[in-house]
Amino acid sequence: MELPFAESWKIKMVEPIRKSTREEREIWMKKAHYNVFQLKSEQVYIDLITDSGTGAMSDRQWAAMMLGDESYAGASSFYNLQEMIQRLTGFEYIIPTHQGRAAENVLFSYLVHEGDIIPGNSHFDTTKGHIEGRKAIALDCTIDAARNTQTELPFKGNVDAKKLEEALEKYADRVPFIIVTITNNTAGGQPVSMQNLREVRQLANKYNKPVLFDSARFAENAYFIKTREEGYADKSIKEIVREMFDLADGMTMSAKKDGIVNMGGFIATRLQDWYDGAKGYCVQFEGYLTYGGMNGRDMNALATGLDENTEFDNLESRIKQVQYLAQKLDEYGIPYQRPAGGHAIFVDASKVLTHVPKEEFPAQTLTIELFLEAGIRGCEIGYILADRDPITRENRYGGLDLLRLAIPRRVYTDNHMNVVAAALKNVFDRRENITRGVNIAWEAPLMRHFTVKLERL
Ligand code: F0G
Repeated sequence: MELPFAESWKIKMVEPIRKSTREEREIWMKKAHYNVFQLKSEQVYIDLITDSGTGAMSDRQWAAMMLGDESYAGASSFYNLQEMIQRLTGFEYIIPTHQGRAAENVLFSYLVHEGDIIPGNSHFDTTKGHIEGRKAIALDCTIDAARNTQTELPFKGNVDAKKLEEALEKYADRVPFIIVTITNNTAGGQPVSMQNLREVRQLANKYNKPVLFDSARFAENAYFIKTREEGYADKSIKEIVREMFDLADGMTMSAKKDGIVNMGGFIATRLQDWYDGAKGYCVQFEGYLTYGGMNGRDMNALATGLDENTEFDNLESRIKQVQYLAQKLDEYGIPYQRPAGGHAIFVDASKVLTHVPKEEFPAQTLTIELFLEAGIRGCEIGYILADRDPITRENRYGGLDLLRLAIPRRVYTDNHMNVVAAALKNVFDRRENITRGVNIAWEAPLMRHFTVKLERL
């Protein structure tokens, strides 16, 4: 018989986790104002709030940490990291930063100015924040199909080339660069095809614009190209990664995802102009150029993490686990953004809690219900996260209203996924009885979802 699939690693160290009672969770959730960001992690049984900085490092990464060079200037750890990034991406210039949004802050301080327009595919919140904070516009050019959770497409994170070309034609000089997020987190961890990256490059050349990749999950994107795109089955992940980055001028990176470290990020580019323009901001905001907010040991761990996570076996273990959870949800008929993404399952709350009006935030309500059911912490990617329109101050109900179950890398087993799926099924089975959601009692003017206080209706 054919052997079943199993992870490409074994476990050397474990961290105990604890179950709780429904009564305990009711009290905790109320005290947290029905906002999962306000929960203490020890109150959580299975934590799927994010896959960012929550992965398990390998023994090789821990060993590399012991060799960290903490010199202020010229640390060997920086040169280890630089060499690895150069080898994987072909980019010559590297600026380390403490995480992904810091890379955005440093680079955009140089590149983005008031009135600019930056087209891309579903800019991540911090990316959008760093653009809008500079009074510029993040213009979404994602393909329309990404907005229908039930449409099954291999590369649902793609840029719509027509929308992009229209933007480039219309705004011409106002566009400092094009940004492509690989994988497209906001659209559901959906990949972008090599073909699409090539199209973007051709348009960029035609209009003489540079291309930036937001690369937080670039390795997962390469896995999808290898397994779904014609002509890539026999290429290694590292070859595909190199081919992807050959189509860009630079990248910002949150190393907390595909670098599998708890903290870190960087900018890499082949443009000397970007490097020279950004490096002063690195010194100003992050630190000197050979550490930029990172410890030497963390740069060493990151260099090793990038090497390991651009190997097929590691990525296969990771993505098959996400697909395993998706299969369970299919069995139970629970609707999510199809097909399963690289790092998470995004449950379509508007199709589950059909009796909860949008003004009462169905995805947030589902997030609360799942925590109360079994101590599982997901995260709303929906109407609360969308914030209010900056001009009208109305809630924005235009996008999707999803519950994201982000799966940390190399942390949970498929047994945990079984628990998640069963808990979700229990909530799903009583969905007809869930008719009321939540009301906002207090909110911050921007990025409200971290601190919002809610009342249950
Ligand atoms: N770009 C993308 C596509 C991201 O998903 C994130 C973070 C960032 C940039 C910013 O990086 O957190 O290191 O500053 N995403 C996390 C998440 C927070 O949960 O999806 P950071």
